[in-house]
Amino acid sequence: MNNINPSDWIVNQVELITKKNEINTIIDVACGFGRHSVYLANKNYKVVSVDLDFDKLKTFADKKNIISVCFDLENEDYWTVKNYFDIVIVVNYLHRRNFNKILNLVKKNGFLLYETFCVGNEKYGKPNRKDYLLKNEELKTLIDNKFIVKNFYQGIVKIPTVAYKQMFVAKRVAI
Ligand SMILES: C[S@@+](CC[C@H](N)C(=O)[O-])C[C@H]1O[C@@H](n2cnc3c(N)ncnc32)[C@H](O)[C@@H]1O
Repeated sequence: MNNINPSDWIVNQVELITKKNEINTIIDVACGFGRHSVYLANKNYKVVSVDLDFDKLKTFADKKNIISVCFDLENEDYWTVKNYFDIVIVVNYLHRRNFNKILNLVKKNGFLLYETFCVGNEKYGKPNRKDYLLKNEELKTLIDNKFIVKNFYQGIVKIPTVAYKQMFVAKRVAI
């Protein structure tokens, strides 16, 4: 996948959040070709962009404000960075076993922006394996009471192609 444009939903949520909150640290988890990283870097935010695929990282790693990290998010190692990022972005990636590790990246009063495919997407194409599809309203069940859901959507998106997705903004309110 090499969509140049960032997700409209992510852009809208980032705009809402950055209007009201001081944002210094951002991570784009499973960033791919970095469409969200590059969007944020162009807005002068410093972004840590993580992916396993070095060839994808290479395409944008030398851009100003980007720190790229080639890392396997699915190894079973302990992640040493915790409670650090004001914004954590995850788009079109799901590996349930590391969901808690991703939550741990979010700093108190920071935000997790998660957007990916969910059950119902099989009608429209790939991914169609249940490992890669969120269950109905599943995102809400993957957080604990240290987070509150600020925005939730599940339904059709039309761009870049028709898909059935789920997305939320969850704010960490406690450590
Ligand atoms: C569908 S792409 C989404 C890329 C980006 N978030 C976007 O929306 O454009 C999924 C990305 O997850 C990365 N990925 C898959 N498994 C990974 C792993 N174990 N560790 C790190 N990245 C991984 C892939 O290399 C790929 O770039």
